[in-house]
Amino acid sequence: MPHIIHVAGARPNFMKIAPIVDAFAREGTLRQTLVHTGQHYDSAMSHIFFDELGIPRPDVDLGVGSASHAVQTARIMIEFEKVVLDSHPDLVLVVGDVNSTVACALVAAKLGVPVAHVEAGLRSFDWGMPEEINRVVTDRLSDLLFTTEESGNHNLRAEGVPDERIHFVGNVMIDTLLAHRDRALATGIVQQLGVKPGSYGVVTLHRPSNVDSLETLGPIAEALAHIAKKRPILFPAHPRTRANLERFGLMEALGDVRILAPLGYLEFLGLTAQAGFVLTDSGGIQEETTVLGVPCLTARPNTERPVTVTEGTNRLIEPTRDAILDAVASLENAPVGGGRQPPLWDGHAAERIVDVVKAFLRERSGAPVRT
Ligand code: UD1
Repeated sequence: MPHIIHVAGARPNFMKIAPIVDAFAREGTLRQTLVHTGQHYDSAMSHIFFDELGIPRPDVDLGVGSASHAVQTARIMIEFEKVVLDSHPDLVLVVGDVNSTVACALVAAKLGVPVAHVEAGLRSFDWGMPEEINRVVTDRLSDLLFTTEESGNHNLRAEGVPDERIHFVGNVMIDTLLAHRDRALATGIVQQLGVKPGSYGVVTLHRPSNVDSLETLGPIAEALAHIAKKRPILFPAHPRTRANLERFGLMEALGDVRILAPLGYLEFLGLTAQAGFVLTDSGGIQEETTVLGVPCLTARPNTERPVTVTEGTNRLIEPTRDAILDAVASLENAPVGGGRQPPLWDGHAAERIVDVVKAFLRERSGAPVRT
């Protein structure tokens, strides 16, 4: 039976891997091993997603934890190499653009094990983003490149990736959203927080470029405090962001903004689905709000997910006080349009991935795996 290793490591990986593991399990002709690198390890950043999304307990936990980019990536590589050498997989499947993604792709490629990359081809063209480096390197190492939107196909072709490696399958994160939307609405999170559907804003910020310096985070906090005088602002804070808000002495400056602990998948989805708007610097939330038809303001100079702007509800804004205030005010006057579903964001991306992987492994069967 062919053997596939799935890799997940950080929060945004978990909702992507869930439908993939499930689709392979339903198909039933491949052996699966799920590896958690331990890049994220807090219960609220990791375990809750496994429980809520019914992801099987990882077969292997590399337990690498937080560190500098080089140390974290290196630790993952050292530990993951042992797993690959021990278990001789026929394919390693990685998702997204985090350090775990590139680290495991590099290990597999060096051992001659084919790599499949889910969410390939996205480009912000911003080399200052660690994720952009991870995306480009992972794609260069991959044999199967699964794309979510047409820009991904275009970018990969422009980089010289042969057409036969590119598979436009849609968006596995949206598979998860569509499968769990009703449960998310049933959590009652909006009632628990005492806010009215449509009235409040949800904020998530964690990019180093926005939260690691007082010069950027200070004016953002000021803008949020100003908005919170008029409408509820709910801000589930990433550990990095909370630590910086405290370090820079900004907690008080936030005024009526409600800082929450990181939420689980269902509660966060329930909250965003009923929000008046979302302000974020996340990649995935730009996609989720597009499908939910909720206006999204992305505090970044660029996006690697342009379909969320051209088809969806997303708008890029500068992370400055005035730009945030103007953008939120303009939403009040004229809600953004959009909300069209990008092609193949239909809840069946994982099944398409299974079909492609099966065909790929069938074709390769008999070929020696170098370890
Ligand atoms: C990582 C990803 C980013 C993704 C984000 C989602 C990379 C380069 N970045 O960024 O693309 O959008 O995850 O959350 O892979 N921490 C905890 N508990 C945890 C995990 C992290 O407290 O469970 C704290 C630690 O102080 C750590 C910091 O968060 O140093 C940053 O964690 P790290 O995994 O390095 O990067 P993220 O900012 O989470």
